[in-house]
Amino acid sequence: MRMEKQRKGVRLVLLPLPFQGHINPMLHLANILYSKGFSITIIHTTFNSPNPLNYPHFTFCPIQDGITTQSDDSSSLNLLHLIILLNIRCVTPFRDTLAKVISDARDNKEHVACLVSDGLFYFTQGVSNTFELPRIALREGGASSFVPFVLFPLLIERGYIPIQDSQLEETVTEIPPLKVKDLPLIDTKEPEKYYKELSNLVEGTKASCGVIWNSFEDLESSPLSYLRQEFQIPFFPIGPFHKYSFSHSPSSSSSSSSSLLTQDQSCISWLDRHKPNSVIYVSFGSLAAITAAKFLEIAWGLASSMHPFLWVIRKGMVIDDGKECLDPPFPAGFIDNLQGRGYIVKWAPQQEVLAHKAVGAFWTHCGWNSTLESICEGVPMICMPFFTDQKVNARYVSSVWKIGVQFEGEVKREEVVKMIRGLIEGNNKEGSQIRERVLDLKEKARVSWNHGGSSYTYLDALVNFILSFEP
Ligand code: UDX
Repeated sequence: MRMEKQRKGVRLVLLPLPFQGHINPMLHLANILYSKGFSITIIHTTFNSPNPLNYPHFTFCPIQDGITTQSDDSSSLNLLHLIILLNIRCVTPFRDTLAKVISDARDNKEHVACLVSDGLFYFTQGVSNTFELPRIALREGGASSFVPFVLFPLLIERGYIPIQDSQLEETVTEIPPLKVKDLPLIDTKEPEKYYKELSNLVEGTKASCGVIWNSFEDLESSPLSYLRQEFQIPFFPIGPFHKYSFSHSPSSSSSSSSSLLTQDQSCISWLDRHKPNSVIYVSFGSLAAITAAKFLEIAWGLASSMHPFLWVIRKGMVIDDGKECLDPPFPAGFIDNLQGRGYIVKWAPQQEVLAHKAVGAFWTHCGWNSTLESICEGVPMICMPFFTDQKVNARYVSSVWKIGVQFEGEVKREEVVKMIRGLIEGNNKEGSQIRERVLDLKEKARVSWNHGGSSYTYLDALVNFILSFEP
């Protein structure tokens, strides 16, 4: 993207939610807005702090959240509890820091035009109101998964939620093709708290003056148009963010700069040694955890498929008897028997991996970033969602866009083999059609962020919207 001249004196304040799947899109967005000439201040929690050294063109202001857990332990935390806590603990330090940023800007003859904060940081709406500062919400997930969030009260009223086991396979007639089992829930002993958080997210987003989506019209036109009617505020679907490239500071726009964990680059030279479309890439994002039993089914399935695989096994990703396994619990001799067909890393340069010609399929948990990254590289998916939006994303991948297949029940090694072979080996008709459709969607994504495409045009609209906020 061509760098525009700095708009002297217009500063934007951005606040990411401190999880990998939220930090990545917010920092990509910061680069996009910087390239449009805005000065950028990132206010961030000390918990899971991004690395300011990777972004010398931004100003970083840490706020003390009092959360001491290290980033690589976040999977073991109760996510719901943490989001509630962040929305309480950050109020005062965020308000004080924002006040200082606004007053420093004034001293420097600058004007803070608006706050862009993660939708799940709903507390920021109240704070920005007190400063009469417009707030734009960033929804890092898709529009398709936001629709059930908006409809939660209705879904509870109509008896879909709490979910009954006898209804799992039934279609939710209000939002087909979602089935009851696809509803974006999370495993919690405190469902009421989860419903309350969703309501806070939806109401906080409605109260904002506009929403930026990491999505594009051709992908989600119908959920976007439903939500536009419901919300009656401007929408800016300007995604996929990570595909914009910049003439400024190219290092800061690479995927590694916002990564909380070190990406193991050695897997790229391993991929270089493989035939096109032959490798299955397996990764379940930054938060999902699996039991040791499930881990073994996955491992045996991958081994029996006879295809090479690259597997991200994060520290603490496997849980046995309620405890994190320090090492992946492979059976004795398992790795040696693979004879180099499997490559394991703790964290991968995912965007580079998906763009590698050797990768033929992505076995994913369907986090929104992973889903978009796979679409952008035209890689078909094997979906194994864990919680919340991942379940909706998986159904869209398998049944709406039809660019992947999904495990419908327990993961069994025989099924793993069938799925991998169906997608990767060219003699399967369904697999070939899936590949054609994902390549078509890849092209639509490319068109959207190029000159004249929908995301490109919405980005211009977003810039004008921000410039309309008077000092
Ligand atoms: C979380 C939620 O789980 C997800 O449902 C929501 O949509 C976003 O927030 P996460 O589970 O981490 O995110 O998944 P995802 O959205 O896919 O984001 C993971 C990010 O980490 C991606 O940008 C991916 O490229 C990156 N990643 C993943 C790596 O850089 N290396 C890896 O090895 C794995």
